[in-house]
Parts: sequence; structure tokens; C-alpha cells
Amino acid sequence: MGDDKYYTLAEGCPFASNRTAVLMRDKQGGGLGLLQDTQLIETLAHFSRERIPERVVHAKAVGSYGEFEATRDCSDFTCASFLNKVGKKTPVLQRVSTVGPESGSADTSRDVHGWSMKLYTDEGNLDWVFNNTPVFFIRDPIKFPSMNRSHKRHPQTHLPDANMFWDFHVGNPEGIHQLMVLFSDRGTPKSVRYMNSYSGHTYKFTKADGSFKYAKIHVKTQQGIQNFSREEATKIAGENPDYMIQDMFEAIERGDYPVWNVYVQLMSPEAAEKHETNIFDMTKVWPHKDFPLQQIGRLTMNRNPRNYFADIEQAAFSPSTMVPGFAASADPVLQARLFAYPDAARYRLGVNYQQLPTNAAKAQVYCPFQRDGSMRFDDNYGGDPNYVGSWIKPTKFYQDVKGTNPGALSLHTEHEKWAGEVSAYSSEITDADFVQPAALWEVIGREPGHQDRLVDNLVSSVKSVKYPELRKAVYSLFSRVSKDLGSRLQKRTEAAIKAA
Ligand code: HEM
Repeated sequence: MGDDKYYTLAEGCPFASNRTAVLMRDKQGGGLGLLQDTQLIETLAHFSRERIPERVVHAKAVGSYGEFEATRDCSDFTCASFLNKVGKKTPVLQRVSTVGPESGSADTSRDVHGWSMKLYTDEGNLDWVFNNTPVFFIRDPIKFPSMNRSHKRHPQTHLPDANMFWDFHVGNPEGIHQLMVLFSDRGTPKSVRYMNSYSGHTYKFTKADGSFKYAKIHVKTQQGIQNFSREEATKIAGENPDYMIQDMFEAIERGDYPVWNVYVQLMSPEAAEKHETNIFDMTKVWPHKDFPLQQIGRLTMNRNPRNYFADIEQAAFSPSTMVPGFAASADPVLQARLFAYPDAARYRLGVNYQQLPTNAAKAQVYCPFQRDGSMRFDDNYGGDPNYVGSWIKPTKFYQDVKGTNPGALSLHTEHEKWAGEVSAYSSEITDADFVQPAALWEVIGREPGHQDRLVDNLVSSVKSVKYPELRKAVYSLFSRVSKDLGSRLQKRTEAAIKAA
């Protein structure tokens, strides 16, 4: 440090020494602590409070910054300003995570990988909170906590538990499509740079005139898909549990910036009514031949976080963080998520989490109706009215506020007319739930050895199920995808158990 810079306490008082406590010492070198040693007390007290709650899911992650560049003028289907001009660039924060395991766990574990992006657009932030799989395990949101608990630790043994995992999935078979993806090669991606991500949900791109198109978003790696085998992933998990963090950090440091192309599938409301599956059921994909991918942008990650805690741990993503021109659909899982994420952020980071630098919009924010609260750390809108309907002009800080923006209505307008009954949501299973998984099994069959690897990955999990009845139920579940798959799984699992 230069002459003019010195260490201080957090409130400015210079340290006499940053390496010694102030003690009442005796001749033998012992000492009693003093309450007047503010430096010691602050040092110890702050240390005990360094941790914030880790995310209940998606705790382990890789983060970086970059940019989204529009490659198409999309004003024919959305008024979203970040998509209204070819070449327009929007800064992005990205966070890619595993789901079930804790923050210190191996990032090459077989798991779905979460994929969050915060686009700091000129009309406010847009969070795309996706996964690296195009489908999901459930279609009724009330199952989400149960599903995740069954993937985590047993309440007694505190161990991950194959009995719980398969018990949940046999009892909730709508997840079969996602299970097929998870136990395929794509369940162990070879770093963030080599994976795709997908909105999974149906969203809506809206226009100011009230028209809209349903949309699914696909983010496709330009580095090519690459995966680890189960054996490689397990070995790396032991040798370097932070492999993916390191891979991404080092690629960006050496200027080898990863790139993804961003595509949409669009569907008109009329086509949605006639579509063969319920477009609000995220266990299903839309056929590409009927709804082709159209490129809208390119994503490049080119800057590492300056500080992991400030930039990535304190980041809060939510599907409810949207901009005019992009809106939620009636997918019940998505609707539940619109509540769950800001709720989690208020718990994890505090009620003013939107002010944290990593979450703060780069666009103008003037929201004097959201005031005060724990850890408010800006001017809190000074003396501006904190109630709606005021004729008093805002203060000098906010002279340029023009009023409300009717264009933003497209964010909230539902367009659809609602008529229906209040009832419990049904997610009964039918044969239709096995059509797309069966097609996936066929597609996997076109890659040499892939079907075998999928069976092998399943065997490595199912062989730990100790109840024969539950194992039988797992074989029946996969037999509904393909008799061949079910019987290969049964034969090899039972042989592995016998041989053990
Ligand atoms: C009812 C369904 C769901 C609920 C209730 C739910 C809830 C949550 C919660 C509470 C978190 C932790 C948030 C935090 O502490 O900041 C989270 C994280 C996450 N979820 Fe979900 N989730 C659901 C479904 C999904 C789906 C379908 C996807 C992907 C398509 C998804 C992707 C993610 C991602 C990527 C994160 C990590 C966010 C980050 O990087 O901070 N979740 N979810």
C-alpha cells in the first residue's frame, strides 16, 4: 500500500496493527481480552456472520458476465427493446448451477444444470432462469419441494438415497422424459461451455398492440455438445470438484470466449388450441419440424466476476423479472415460480435485494412505492411522495420521470379471456406421456453405444435400491418407454446386485 493508504476498521478508524489483539498481558505471555478492543470484536463477530443461506436448490455454480447481441429485428412478434434492432447489445450476467447438491459439491455430478441469465436491458432487467434440459420432472408445482428432497439427503442417514429418488419418480411418472435426458450422456456435461440451455416453459412474446405468440427459447452452444462418460465424471468429481468453475474461469481469462446462439420456437394462440399436447405442460417439447428454431441472438461470455460473493452469490434471478414484450404463460409451474424466486431472494438476501449492485437494473428505476426496509442503502427517494396519485413533482434526483409508460402494459396484459372452474390441477399419467420419451430412446439409438450407456447409467443408480418391489416398479416405468429398455435395465441391474 502507498503512504496515503492504510488499513482501517469498517468505520474508518486506522488500525494500529492488523495482526495483534489488544490484551491485558501477564509476564508469561498470557493475556485477558478487553471489551475495548473493538478491532478484535469486529473481526470475530463479522467472521461468524460471513455466510448467507445457500440457495435451497442450485447452490453450486459457475458465474460470468458477457453480452447478448440481437441477430434479428424481432419487432414482428415482440416490442421487447433489446430485440428491436440487429446488432443491439445487452449486458448479461450468467450463473450455471447443479440443482440438488450443496455449494461445496462436485459440479460434474449427474444432475440437471440450471442456467440463469440476467439481461440488463434498457427497459429494465429480464431474467431467463432456464435448465440445460428442454423438459422438467413435474407439471404440478406443489410437487417441487418433494421432488427436490427426494434428490437430496435422507432425513435420517443424511446420505443421498436411491430409494427416495426412485420412490418419488415411480410415484410421479410424468418425469420420465426428464429422467431419460438425465441418464443419457447429457446428464454429465463436459463444462458449461459445451452445454445448451432451454426455457422449458412456454413463455409469451408480446406486442404493444396486445397480440402475442407463445415461445420456447433454446440457447445452443457453438463449442459443440460434449459430455463426460459416467466414469470420467465420477473421477473428476473426486479429483477436482470445481472442474466446471475452473474450466470457465480459465477459458475467459485466456480470451477463449464461449458463444451460444439463441433461438425461439414460436406458436400462435390458434395453433396452441389445436396442438397435440398441452403447451403448458413442461414435460413435453414442441416438434421442431412444425415449430422451427429461429435465431434471435448470440450470447458471448467474456468477463469473469471481480468478486464471487458480490457478483454471483448475491445475484437473485427470477422468472418474474421481465420486460415489456416478454410475459409468462399459463403454465402452472411457471406461475408458481413467479412467486417462489423473489420470496427466496427476500429470505436469502433481504428485502432490498434489488439494490445490490449485481441485481440493480442499468435502466432507469423510479419506484418510490417500494421504500424503507432492512438494509436500504440508497437515498430512499428522499422526500418524494410514497403514495400513488400525488400531484407533487418528484425531487431533483428524479426530474426526468415522465409518468407511467402505457407501452409496458404488454407485460401484464394477459390477452386471453379466462373462464373456468377452481379445481385441483390434475397431472394424471396417460400413454401420451410416453410418446416423446420413446422417440428420444430411438434418437439416442442412432448414436453408437448411447442406449447402452443410458442403461448403464440407470443401473449404477437403481442397483442401490434395496426394495425389490420398488426396483420392479422402476423396470415397469422404463418398459412403458420401450420394452427393450425395461428388460435390459432389469437384467443388468439384477445381475449387478447378484455380483456385488
Ligand atoms: C414449481 C417449480 C419450481 C420452484 C418452486 C423453484 C424454486 C426455486 C428456488 C426457491 C430457487 C432458489 C432461488 C434463490 O435462492 O435465489 C431456485 C433456483 C433455480 N431454479 Fe427453480 N424452481 C422451480 C422450477 C424450476 C424450473 C422448471 C427451472 C428451469 C426451467 C428452474 C431453474 C432454476 C435455476 C436455474 C435456479 C438457480 C437460480 C440462480 O442461478 O440463482 N427451476 N428455484
